[in-house]
Amino acid sequence: MWNEEVRAIILHIVGARPQFIKLAPVIRAFREMDIPYAVLHTGQHYDHTMSDLHFTSLGLDEPHFHLGIGSDSHARQTSRMLEGIEEVLLRETPAFVLVYGDTNSTLAGALAAVKLGIPVGHVEAGVRSFDRRMPEEINRVVADHVSDHHFCPTMNAVSLLRKEGIEGILTGDVMYDALLQTRREDLTHPHALPFVLVTIHRAENTDVPEKFAGIWTGLKLLSREIPVLFPVHPRTRHRFPDLLQDGAPNLNLIEPVSYLTMLAMVRDASLVITDSGGVQKEAFLLGTPCVTVRDTTEWPETVQAGANTLVAAEPEALCRSARSMMGLKVALKDNPFGNGKASFAVAGFIREHYL
Ligand code: UD1
Repeated sequence: MWNEEVRAIILHIVGARPQFIKLAPVIRAFREMDIPYAVLHTGQHYDHTMSDLHFTSLGLDEPHFHLGIGSDSHARQTSRMLEGIEEVLLRETPAFVLVYGDTNSTLAGALAAVKLGIPVGHVEAGVRSFDRRMPEEINRVVADHVSDHHFCPTMNAVSLLRKEGIEGILTGDVMYDALLQTRREDLTHPHALPFVLVTIHRAENTDVPEKFAGIWTGLKLLSREIPVLFPVHPRTRHRFPDLLQDGAPNLNLIEPVSYLTMLAMVRDASLVITDSGGVQKEAFLLGTPCVTVRDTTEWPETVQAGANTLVAAEPEALCRSARSMMGLKVALKDNPFGNGKASFAVAGFIREHYL
């Protein structure tokens, strides 16, 4: 735990839901290895169901620093984060900064630290979709190219980084650690089986109304065959308040849920339909087939294993893909995401080199 006497702290910078999930196992490793740390929350996600719920349900302490930045355009959100993070870095002088994944908080954290000469480690480095229209892809590439150390979730990520002239460290995926650290009896949800589980929030699907309308029509069609359960991300809820009212009897919209409830729902679903990166992996790891509504994926391992397929935001295509993947048995062999000890590999590296 961080306190005034300890100066050589490691600062974790997070801001969005998937980062809280990645942070949890890493903090657990830090605690077990007695490494002093502090957590900075940019405030990128701020709704209770997107932020506080995860801190409490994942056993994380209140963040030591909270910038309360909130939603804004990319430039304004990122620049306000840069300013706020820089202030904390100048005041607290951490020995090392860890950033996670691919959000604007990742980008701002890495940039602010590197400009002050503070060493930066990127957790989930080397992941690529090769689609520069995605804000996440820009964030990942920039974060990787300014970071000092690259903690890679898969061998594929190490190979992709090498092509960019960067030597990554293969640690495994901290999201797999997070999943393994859950207790089976905690994985429950209140929904009757069977159902298809849906999450759609990415800019590429929600910034273009026609695309989301195509997905929505597809889900309505599918819900005639099997109940569809859709925890709605606030981005999606805000963009389509009217469309979301125009549903169907078996298309059930719910609020975003906790990590454990989500895992239980992914495990029990007959099929997952998503545009999230993390949910594609979780479906694979929990043996549930997945249809990804995107042109590209940064997790090709799941497609190569036959557990995941990409589909366009078009109603008929979506239904066809859903029917052909539904109920498919997904066997977890040759797991590319490591051995569940990625967080200890990250923490061990930092302790050896920076404390
Ligand atoms: C961010 C990440 C994305 C990640 C996702 C996980 C970027 C560019 N994107 O997208 O990589 O997959 O988080 O959830 O960093 N909003 C709320 N309440 C919240 C959070 C968001 O209302 O708690 C709404 C706001 O309307 C906001 C919109 O979501 O305008 C977009 O927020 P943004 O900061 O871009 O994040 P996400 O879309 O969630």
